[in-house]
Amino acid sequence: MKIYKVTAPSNIAFLKYWGKQDEKLQWPSNNSLSMTLNECQTFTTACVQNSLKNFSFKKEGENEQEDSFSLKVIKHLEFLKKKYQFPSFLEVSTHNNFPTASGVASSASGFAALTLVAIAAWTESSSFHELEEKGFSRETLAQLARLGSGSAGRSLFGGYVVWKKGSSPEGQRVACFLPKSHWDLADTIVILSKEEKDLSSREAHKRVPTSPLFSVRLSGLCEREKLFLQALEKKDMKSLGALLELEALEIHFILMTAAEPFSYLKENTLEFLSWLRNLRQETHLEAYFTIDAGANVHVICEFSKREEFLFYFRRDFPKTHFLLDAVGDGPKLFVTEE
Ligand code: DP6
Repeated sequence: MKIYKVTAPSNIAFLKYWGKQDEKLQWPSNNSLSMTLNECQTFTTACVQNSLKNFSFKKEGENEQEDSFSLKVIKHLEFLKKKYQFPSFLEVSTHNNFPTASGVASSASGFAALTLVAIAAWTESSSFHELEEKGFSRETLAQLARLGSGSAGRSLFGGYVVWKKGSSPEGQRVACFLPKSHWDLADTIVILSKEEKDLSSREAHKRVPTSPLFSVRLSGLCEREKLFLQALEKKDMKSLGALLELEALEIHFILMTAAEPFSYLKENTLEFLSWLRNLRQETHLEAYFTIDAGANVHVICEFSKREEFLFYFRRDFPKTHFLLDAVGDGPKLFVTEE
């Protein structure tokens, strides 16, 4: 029996996907831009089981469960099976090499891995080249993955990735903007809260358009995107850093001013942000924060500056956990015979 195995990375958004113009069609309110990570990965295996009457999905080391993630996974597999009329069900199992509550987007790596491994198993493809020959280019796979979770589409590519919303839901595009080799950026993920986040990003996307700040955000995003792309192209850390922090604070303030307000930022998150800004003033160390839908902070700096950042961080936060990550390649596909 052939077992298809995929490892897919998470990604950290620089320009954030925040709000949906059409929820059913997973059409975002704005373009987004992310850096694919290297270390935080989801590992998923799939095999075709002709005897199965339903999908079997397990998180490794756990029994089959009916939690919200597992239900979303089954729904996504059912959608793919129906869309392409694949005859068989699959046995799927998955695990992450990072804690789910770390503020790292596990749905991004999770749905990227799931989509890729399921299509590879159904089409009996053992490489991206074979997938492409069968009509599943990386771009097509990204389009399918984003239907499971928007940010997952970006995890199909390595390096710096753009998701363009286009002028209609069908006009969306996901593509690599610059490869990993263009700029060696590091991401140190500071774990300030180990609790699972108490509002899903799916729910946050629904709430943010009700903030009076939302339309102000959208009106400035075209210009901000241009500046982000320029900063990346020129490897201009100062400009990139200012944009990262503005973007992160803006999306959180929008959620805090929604009709049903919510804040992911805890007291110690805010303390950490002030600490980082003070450190920058005192030492001129170019390290900047960004935060997705959670309380933990991603500190972005050039790889060559990470040791210096860690020196101050360990000195001032000796008990705080962190994960070391950096810009990485896209997903990988393997096949084994058992
Ligand atoms: C703050 O991709 O998790 O991380 O499409 O509803 O599954 P769904 O949302 P999701 O949203 C991610 C939000 C974000 C920003 C980003 O990754 O761009």
